[in-house]
Amino acid sequence: MADSTNTIKHVASPLARQTLLDSELTRPVAGRRPIRLLPWLQVVKIGGRSIMDRGAEAILPLVDELRRLLPEHRLLLLTGAGIRARHLYGVGLDLGLPVGSLAPLAASEAGQNGHILASLLAPEGVSYVEHSTIANQLAIHLSAARAVVGSAFPPYHHHEFPGSRIPIHRADTGAFLLADALGAAGLTLVEDVDGVYTADPRAAGGERGELIREIDAAELAQRPGTLPLDPALLEVMATARHLEHVQIVNGLVPGRLTAALRGEHVGTLIHTGVRPA
Ligand SMILES: Nc1ncnc2c1ncn2[C@@H]1O[C@H](COP(=O)(O)OP(=O)(O)OP(=O)(O)O)[C@@H](O)[C@H]1O
Ligand SMILES: [Mg+2]
Repeated sequence: MADSTNTIKHVASPLARQTLLDSELTRPVAGRRPIRLLPWLQVVKIGGRSIMDRGAEAILPLVDELRRLLPEHRLLLLTGAGIRARHLYGVGLDLGLPVGSLAPLAASEAGQNGHILASLLAPEGVSYVEHSTIANQLAIHLSAARAVVGSAFPPYHHHEFPGSRIPIHRADTGAFLLADALGAAGLTLVEDVDGVYTADPRAAGGERGELIREIDAAELAQRPGTLPLDPALLEVMATARHLEHVQIVNGLVPGRLTAALRGEHVGTLIHTGVRPA
């Protein structure tokens, strides 16, 4: 049998002779900040439970506000899953479905909310696009239209981490991973509360809770109690490459999202560890 080793081409690479596990060796090559792919993009995550599940009363005024924002910004609108995913988790867990089966089903509920939003903005040229299009053709879509809509869920499917029976990477985490990977100008999370409080304002005794105007993600992760966010969001914020903060705003108050996209502090700012370049 012919010895083929002599025909193998040696490819010059600064990482060719190194284990990728030794960060001391990889740092000179891999330690640089990645480029921003879409530095002009504003990513907006619309709450599934807090906005979309409320129907026309909450959705239509927000759609009007988004319509007015289109000349000013290029937007990636990502929708959360809401009540249908909660029902789905209930049925799926009862049947013993693994977390990797539940993740794409919940993601499709987030996608349904996206289809609803995109239908309402269709006269403005806005469409719903799938994950693969966001991954590969977002720039061309945003050259043709001022905004596109997608599901905020990340596409983990059977790769979802099995530590919990409910998928840990949900809409907030997915929106952040995408916005940071694209090097977007900002990420705004639209909820039905003015921001993060020291206690859930809608729960019993919540009237004693105070609005947290500004906080580091690491500090928020240490606080006891509930949050209007996926806990995994705070974990991925720790390793952010571009986004310096996210802002949580109340989408039921007209003008809040507009102000947030103009850089005003109108909700809760949660800071990542990233410092300006
Ligand atoms: N510390 C807190 N501060 C503010 N709101 C809180 C807090 N803890 C719990 N909440 C509750 O979280 C609710 C929002 O729920 P959630 O974040 O699940 O909705 P959502 O973001 O619309 O859902 P989805 O992730 O499906 O898009 C708020 O209405 C509020 O009652
Ligand atoms: Mg939320």
